[in-house]
Amino acid sequence: MWKGRFQEETTDLMKRFGESISFDWRLFKHDIRASIAHARGLERAGILTAEEVAQISSGLREIEGEIAEGTFAFSVDLEDIHMNIEKALTNRIGPAGAKLHTARSRNDQVAVDMRLYAKETIDLIGGKIQELQRSLVGLSRRFPGAVLPGYTHLQRGQPVLLGHHLLAYVEMLERDRGRLLDARVRVDCMPLGSGALAGSTILIDREAVAKDLGFACVSRNSMDAVSDRDFMAEMLFALALLGTHLSRLSEDVILWVSAEFGFMSLSDAHTTGSSLMPQKKNPDAAELTRGKTGRLYGNLIALLTTLKGLPMTYNRDLQEDKERLFDSIDTAELCLSIFAEMMAEATVNEAAMREAASDPFLLATDLADYLVKAGVPFRQAHEVVGQLTAYSLEHEKAFPDMSLAEFQQFSEAFGEDVFAMLELDKALEARQAIGAPSPTRVRKELANWATALGMSD
Ligand code: ARG
Repeated sequence: MWKGRFQEETTDLMKRFGESISFDWRLFKHDIRASIAHARGLERAGILTAEEVAQISSGLREIEGEIAEGTFAFSVDLEDIHMNIEKALTNRIGPAGAKLHTARSRNDQVAVDMRLYAKETIDLIGGKIQELQRSLVGLSRRFPGAVLPGYTHLQRGQPVLLGHHLLAYVEMLERDRGRLLDARVRVDCMPLGSGALAGSTILIDREAVAKDLGFACVSRNSMDAVSDRDFMAEMLFALALLGTHLSRLSEDVILWVSAEFGFMSLSDAHTTGSSLMPQKKNPDAAELTRGKTGRLYGNLIALLTTLKGLPMTYNRDLQEDKERLFDSIDTAELCLSIFAEMMAEATVNEAAMREAASDPFLLATDLADYLVKAGVPFRQAHEVVGQLTAYSLEHEKAFPDMSLAEFQQFSEAFGEDVFAMLELDKALEARQAIGAPSPTRVRKELANWATALGMSD
């Protein structure tokens, strides 16, 4: 494509080193879409005739069909998807094909392709996030009465409903989706027309091209537009944080399916056995999801490092952006899909959860609240319940098994009604505020999410 200036052939090693066709072929649809819009722009600018645009469009559609079917022969000699397509077009339709690259550089071309890809994949991942949210809401609704200990420091803290625990992830996922949608606003800006770095002397109505391609706006500075990869860094961050959340969910599942917890079981279809230990049923999907967080972090750091200190404007370093974004999108899509499927078929061992949640110490805070309601300052109430806990451990006697006289040894404020509040279900129902896990509240939250996620009752 640049043979005019060169006398020597590129070496095979250099071709192998420089090519991107082995991964950027995935942009073929976006590249073709953008080329057709560009051709129409050239027509409006008086560079191409309607006839030539028709030839270009149908030639490109043919090529698109062949690539989709797998019959198109890519060439490493042609370096990337842009040149592979352009060469094939010119071979097919002749001179009109050779006019297509007017007022365009691969620099604005690749930038527009990546933005089209980014918009499409943000929508894809957004949908996958909602699939997992639906699956978690569904699991909660299949086990509406499941109560388990909530943990801090992985030590039993206070009782919560399973739905409350799972909705915590639904909230995290909603923020992840929101972050991607925020980034989408900045993705939605068309760089095409920026040329190599300084636009073109051939005047194209960029706003009309943007409209054609469905972009909300056009970039305002050609130098920025060809080298801006902020939108990818934002996406990679949003996906890295999604990975953080998925790794936490994974960890819960891994703990819950262990014999030590026994809170959950996964379907055979989502677990694997051991080649050595016949009894094993391993939560590999959760472990792999947890492990793949490493890629999601790595891709973010790799791109930021590539961008650091780059002189203006386009530099070939930027070719390194694609595999990072492709990999994070692919990874996120797979992890979300497998988790949605796995959670939809998981079952919960309500009895084991309830037994763990029935640990009377989980209501120690409730006892302190009881004293506060009777007028005892919280700090003092905390100390009283601490002493009661020591007494309970020493005498191996749980709170509900103590007599009123025993309670009153520690505080006169205890009355008969203390026993009622030591019942798990009553204690849960007492947590009424917005954001708290009373069954009434959780039911409402689940209903709101189900509506928001378009789930049927
Ligand atoms: N394959 C290149 C990339 O991914 C396309 C842009 C090439 N531009 C150039 N001036 N060499 O970045």
